Amino acid sequence: MVQAALMKAGVRCEVLDTVSVPPRSRRRAVFKISGSEIGFHAAQSNTIVDMRECLVLTPGLFGLVQALRRRLALVLKAPADLHVTETDTGFDLAFRSPQTVTPALTQAMAGAAAGLDIARILFNGALLLERAAPEVVEGGARVKLPPQAFLQPTREGEQALQAHVAQIVGGAKTIADLFAGCGTFALPLAARARVHAVEQDAPALAALAEASRAAGRKPVTTERRDLFKLPLTPAELNLYDAVVLDPPRAGAEAQAGQLAKSRVPTIAYVSCDAASFARDAAILAAGGYRPGVVTPIDQFLWSSHIELVAGFVRGKG
Ligand SMILES: C[S@@+](CC[C@H](N)C(=O)[O-])C[C@H]1O[C@@H](n2cnc3c(N)ncnc32)[C@H](O)[C@@H]1O
Repeated sequence: MVQAALMKAGVRCEVLDTVSVPPRSRRRAVFKISGSEIGFHAAQSNTIVDMRECLVLTPGLFGLVQALRRRLALVLKAPADLHVTETDTGFDLAFRSPQTVTPALTQAMAGAAAGLDIARILFNGALLLERAAPEVVEGGARVKLPPQAFLQPTREGEQALQAHVAQIVGGAKTIADLFAGCGTFALPLAARARVHAVEQDAPALAALAEASRAAGRKPVTTERRDLFKLPLTPAELNLYDAVVLDPPRAGAEAQAGQLAKSRVPTIAYVSCDAASFARDAAILAAGGYRPGVVTPIDQFLWSSHIELVAGFVRGKG
């Protein structure tokens, strides 16, 4: 998939062997719930496959689903989507359902959560229960996750991406982390560089800033900005030794166009979509960047999605 996308976009570069995460490593998922069934939709259908085995989810997340099946059947009066993240301080649950929040629902939900390692429960955006702030550690800094914040789906994939990004930016002293989320790259990089994190989601940026202050790192500066509409300009980009970017599936066409006109020496590009990556890589190459090797990271096991990371360096002239 990665090679085909690069060939189609006319980008010549080496694609290394795929790094795969182990089975049973996915730490977040959205489950479908109806009556006493909890699982995922069958392919191209709205039928829920009641999940009795899963080779993708972490054992903790799978165990939670089994424990919730019977308990939630007594609490939920309508079908629901349940977004769960396994954090270092417990599970973070967010329900979406036509059911409205009432004191009875809150009480029933607290009963259903009893004895399970649940940190927080939200229902249609309302906080029902918070026993602990859901936290993950990024580069030694503790990040309090905002509700339904983006988080790399597996710890193993995240560690592989962080290691590749650190290697690509090398000894850069000033780094811009674009599409920074809660700081997956900014926080570890801040151990040895001044990092400016740019992202459009305000709660994610606030969590990143708080984590960086508490960790006593070199301060990470943050900027809330829509990078599709208002990408960093060449003058802004030229302040940095390296730029990290990790856009959503649509890629970062506008930002790649500005980078192509900049003098930033090194770019680390993390992508979850081979086609938009290849398009942006072609823009960077046309602007004089040389692509390094591309490493596919399969953290969406047995699916047609693929993550990848690649470096680009400014060519001469
Ligand atoms: C694939 S996630 C990466 C987040 C982070 N780098 C990480 O690894 O956890 C993409 C991020 O881009 C942000 N984003 C989406 N559209 C954006 C836009 N137009 N401008 C700025 N940030 C955007 C999302 O909020 C999300 O945090």
